[in-house]
Amino acid sequence: MSEDIASKSGPFHYTIDGQAVEAQDGWTVLDTARHYGIHIPTLCYHESVSASGACRLCVVEVREGRWSKVVISCMYPSRSGIEILTNTERVRNVRRWILEMLLAECPASKEIRALAEQYGVKKTRFNIENPEEQCLLCGLCVRVCEEVVGVRAISFGSRGVTKKIATPYMIPNKACIACGSCVTICPTGAMQARLDAVRGEVSERTGKGFAH
Ligand code: SF4
Ligand code: FES
Repeated sequence: MSEDIASKSGPFHYTIDGQAVEAQDGWTVLDTARHYGIHIPTLCYHESVSASGACRLCVVEVREGRWSKVVISCMYPSRSGIEILTNTERVRNVRRWILEMLLAECPASKEIRALAEQYGVKKTRFNIENPEEQCLLCGLCVRVCEEVVGVRAISFGSRGVTKKIATPYMIPNKACIACGSCVTICPTGAMQARLDAVRGEVSERTGKGFAH
């Protein structure tokens, strides 16, 4: 096996916050950190569904040789010889900036407000469009519906600043089995208020439109 191929197959040995770790093939840096009980904050990640990199909160610093960069740990692959730092000033600065954006995006989320407080973020410099919004568009509800339940009752509707979680054609979706997986996996509670609009009236499963 060439050295190049060998370096791409596990187990991988590296350090996280100075602690020696061993990662198996396919483990991201976040998987490895969790395996060793090292805390990295996340919002859009759940081990039951694919990672999307939507929230960016799981940033860490990776150092290798003479360079270093900030990466999202839920999608960054393990590699031997790297040094991962989960809580440097650089990392905390990026998290503060992300939390300011999240505070503007979903100001009504008590989970986001609590996280922001932990990082000393008291207010946001970004525009708040909807003071009632709790949804950060992390997509966990969409992914669990598609990948675990196998139903695809919800998806992202619209694009850009009007992007939202929606049912096809913004009407209740008869495919919804009202299992509640989307509500359970939602990190902010935003999906709770949307469930009725997804499934419609239980008796007839049709009716009012769904616009959030
Ligand atoms: S409703 Fe919840 S799970 Fe779905 S995208 Fe919004 S925050 Fe994420
Ligand atoms: S948890 Fe990694 S980007 Fe959201």
